[in-house]
Amino acid sequence: MRILVLGANGQLGRCLADELHETNHQVLLASRAEIDLSNFHITQTEIRRFAPDVVINASGYTAVDKAESDEKSAYLVNHLAVENIAKVCYAVDCVLIHVSSDYVFDGQSIRPYQEDATTNPKSVYGKSKLKGEIAVQNSGCNYLIVRTAWVFSEYGNNFFKTMMRIGSQNRELKIVGDQFGCPSYAPDIAKAILSTLTSPRLKTSKSIYHYAGDSACTWAEFSQSIFDAAWAAGKLDYKPKIVSIKSKEYPLPALRPLNSMLDSSRFESEFGFKASPWLAGVRKLIASWDS
Ligand SMILES: NC(=O)c1ccc[n+]([C@@H]2O[C@H](COP(=O)([O-])OP(=O)(O)OC[C@H]3O[C@@H](n4cnc5c(N)ncnc54)[C@H](OP(=O)(O)O)[C@@H]3O)[C@@H](O)[C@H]2O)c1
Repeated sequence: MRILVLGANGQLGRCLADELHETNHQVLLASRAEIDLSNFHITQTEIRRFAPDVVINASGYTAVDKAESDEKSAYLVNHLAVENIAKVCYAVDCVLIHVSSDYVFDGQSIRPYQEDATTNPKSVYGKSKLKGEIAVQNSGCNYLIVRTAWVFSEYGNNFFKTMMRIGSQNRELKIVGDQFGCPSYAPDIAKAILSTLTSPRLKTSKSIYHYAGDSACTWAEFSQSIFDAAWAAGKLDYKPKIVSIKSKEYPLPALRPLNSMLDSSRFESEFGFKASPWLAGVRKLIASWDS
């Protein structure tokens, strides 16, 4: 297959690159330097030139708090650029695998969210990601929208790396303990996405799937798991004490859903690929952690 990865320099993009490297697919990895998605003309030209069977859009304006004061940029990347990509995919008859977010939900549910749950984003980031999803759905192209959550990996900036950095400098940390979500190890998301490529339904798919961690926790519990693993592996001299606080005690520009747990069972049964065993991901990262 000919596969084009957009946003190839992000944490998911780089994990996709690692996984695709092990396959026989003909792959074009496009970071912003190769295809700036805010340039619609270049995007169209480059997609037509490569003539992919599948486009994987791993790009995103992911600065959740910055988006509140930089709406235009967030909508440009998460909505308008996605609309443009989807329209070209329709025109050249290729499948679009588009990555979206748990933040399209308002967090009021007490259960993990299924794909058909009502969306009601509370932040500019969440609203712009939802607009992107709708644009894909309206474009006419065949698509898989994969919503994921709380992504961490060895690449880029993420919660795991922040915790390892501040945990090595502070014996006590205040971490939000009233938001629930499913941490997702980016190499698992990349593998999950590649598992869809062999599905006979891919070519005609027009579906949303959730793919995230196999269990839920709070940010405070996530950090506890990281420190437990780091301590057990001798990567920290002490185990930082975590004080669980409420979201309102740590106000940020963007509102986060209190519950953004994603139910991955539809993805699991459709593609036979298990939700991300994220604790194993934490241990893997710790094992190779070199502060
Ligand atoms: N991170 C999370 O916790 C999380 C949670 C749920 C869903 N998601 C979604 O998962 C996807 C991947 O997230 P991630 O964590 O891998 O994000 P990331 O590390 O921030 O990577 C996003 C990539 O998008 C690229 N990009 C932004 N604007 C672009 C443009 N105009 N042209 C080309 N590339 C552009 C960035 O390029 P530069 O490197 O040049 O800036 C970056 O490499 C995104 O769709 C995100 O919304 C993420």
